[in-house]
Amino acid sequence: MEILSALRIYKTIITILSLVLIFNIPSQAYGYLFHRHMTTKYDLSISQIGEGNTYNPYASILKFLNSSKFPNRESFPHGFLFGTGSSAVQIEGGSHEGGRGLGIWDDIVEQNKGRYLDADKFSSKIEHYKRYKEDVQHLKKLGVNSYRMSISWSRILPNGTLEGGINQEGVNFYNNLINELLKNGIEPFVGIMHFDYPLALKEKHGGFLNRSIVKYYKDYSKLLFKTYGDRVKHWTTINEAEFTAIVQYMFNIDNLSTDQACTSTKICTQVYTLLHNFLLAHATTSKLYTTKFQAIQGGEIGLALSSGRYVPYSSNPEDVVAAQRLMDFYWGWVLDPVFHGDYPKIMKELVGNRLPEFTKKEKRMLKGSTNFIGINYYTSHFARHEPNITKIMADNYDALAVSEASDAEGKILGFKDQYGWNNVYPEGLYNFLIYIKEKYKNPKVYITENGIASSKISNPLKDEHRIAYVAAHLNATKTAINDGVNVQGYFLWAAFDTFEFQAGYSGNWGLYHIDFNDSLKRIPTNTAKWYKEYLTRDLRH
Ligand SMILES: *[C@@H]1O[C@H](CO)[C@@H](O)[C@H](O)[C@H]1NC(C)=O
Ligand SMILES: *[C@@H]1O[C@H](CO)[C@@H](O)[C@H](O)[C@H]1NC(C)=O
Ligand SMILES: *[C@@H]1O[C@H](CO)[C@@H](O)[C@H](O)[C@H]1NC(C)=O
Ligand SMILES: *[C@@H]1O[C@H](CO)[C@@H](O)[C@H](O)[C@H]1NC(C)=O
Ligand SMILES: *[C@@H]1O[C@H](CO)[C@@H](O)[C@H](O)[C@H]1NC(C)=O
Ligand SMILES: *[C@@H]1O[C@H](CO)[C@@H](O)[C@H](O)[C@H]1NC(C)=O
Ligand SMILES: *[C@@H]1O[C@H](CO)[C@@H](O)[C@H](O)[C@H]1NC(C)=O
Repeated sequence: MEILSALRIYKTIITILSLVLIFNIPSQAYGYLFHRHMTTKYDLSISQIGEGNTYNPYASILKFLNSSKFPNRESFPHGFLFGTGSSAVQIEGGSHEGGRGLGIWDDIVEQNKGRYLDADKFSSKIEHYKRYKEDVQHLKKLGVNSYRMSISWSRILPNGTLEGGINQEGVNFYNNLINELLKNGIEPFVGIMHFDYPLALKEKHGGFLNRSIVKYYKDYSKLLFKTYGDRVKHWTTINEAEFTAIVQYMFNIDNLSTDQACTSTKICTQVYTLLHNFLLAHATTSKLYTTKFQAIQGGEIGLALSSGRYVPYSSNPEDVVAAQRLMDFYWGWVLDPVFHGDYPKIMKELVGNRLPEFTKKEKRMLKGSTNFIGINYYTSHFARHEPNITKIMADNYDALAVSEASDAEGKILGFKDQYGWNNVYPEGLYNFLIYIKEKYKNPKVYITENGIASSKISNPLKDEHRIAYVAAHLNATKTAINDGVNVQGYFLWAAFDTFEFQAGYSGNWGLYHIDFNDSLKRIPTNTAKWYKEYLTRDLRH
């Protein structure tokens, strides 16, 4: 049985069941994909991009990529960040080395070993902690000008607090990594917290359910600004707060919630408390940065969220309203507070007194607390009005709407990728970007994650479907830029194979494949070769 990632499952396949391909092209070899000036051949024959598949749904984008009209790197705005990303909890390893304290994820995986593929590799991962110098060379070879990474709070402050002591070895590690990146022409784009935080804070204080964590988060961030802010110019406070809250504290997928009512009666409270504290931590730290550091250090601070467009399930007005409601319940939940200072009105109505309130002072602090937003985009869904949610792991119960993979007529959004096991819908990215521009007065945006797995592929190096996926989303990004959206960067997820929670390493997300049978050798996939070619060919002459 396929074991899928607790986190990715939601982004990618939660309700995907049907398969309707919109590009109904017969099966055969598709020849070679040559880009103008490109020297590398990409064999896109069906035998390589997916056994048993009878279509090549990417044909049209590949044809476009092959043409001279495909937007090249130079056509993006000046200073555009073209990067790739990872996170500490997914690649670093050295969990018990260099004075690091435990993080909540060390505990979750340890307690639930049987449910996590590759659990035995969790503490060492791909040993980025030891091999960071080599890894920076791999990044350099790609031709990226930026790298999205995150810092492990437990490596800097092993018990989460300043009183517990600063781990100098951990501080040195990130100094070395950041210096190594800069020395090689790569700007670090740094996440302060990407899913993981010190276990001691959870065990002693209840973690992010306790608002006292805001102070600890601020202390930790301040230390980062003081230590690395002379060199780091892009900070993100929290990654996918809304997604973490829903998955871990509404669906309790990682058994973190103790909110009994939530699973039985679907009257959930912790999920809102958690997100509230995430937002307060974000705003407090953002204020600290913008008032005390920004003028001197000249950087910027924002947050990253998951994203997707909700498309009405049918033309029934109830479904049309449901689609907007899901937009508000996912993205408005985070973005309305950071742009306008408060939660969306519809959430207040439907969640009632379970939704915590911000004080006047907090509202002022929240409003305008982000210099940019980071968007992690994978796919989109239909939204159907549903006052009585009975599905397990559906959507926010209070939203009275569920996401669906296909609409009332059985159509899906975009097409289903057989190799990455995902609905590919680049228009959803374009539409989401336009939505953000219109709703929040055209903020600065980075695509902080975009990519596709290679789960269902016999040779993970032959990931041509990923080339097509990335090309389609680069086109959507460029089209949005042409239409006035202020996008300033694109980070392909992921640089290296990442530990994807319950799916372990089975997704092969990396531009560099990790050979666990050959001393964790990093091997560039065909997408890595293509990305390098795309990023460097115009710079050669
Ligand atoms: C790309 O261009 C080459 C050379 O012009 C052509 O032979 C090939 O069929 C094209 N591939 C696709 C997928 O259109
Ligand atoms: C961290 O260590 C300090 C000093 O030993 C102690 O006072 C504090 O309670 C600890 N905090 C946590 C969250 O364990
Ligand atoms: C919340 O944190 C405070 C201060 O660190 C602590 O005194 C309190 O017991 C914590 N509350 C819970 C419910 O853990
Ligand atoms: C943890 O979650 C799994 C799957 O949802 C469930 O089978 C298990 O009983 C849960 N364990 C606890 C302690 O709640
Ligand atoms: C919701 O659905 C469940 C299961 O189908 C049913 O037992 C329950 O009566 C429904 N509740 C309402 C309010 O319709
Ligand atoms: C490029 O993206 C735009 C916006 O999503 C879309 O309308 C257009 O069809 C795309 N072009 C191709 C060749 O996919
Ligand atoms: C690694 O080696 C084991 C044992 O020889 C084998 O079962 C497995 O398929 C290999 N994995 C890969 C990715 O080559």
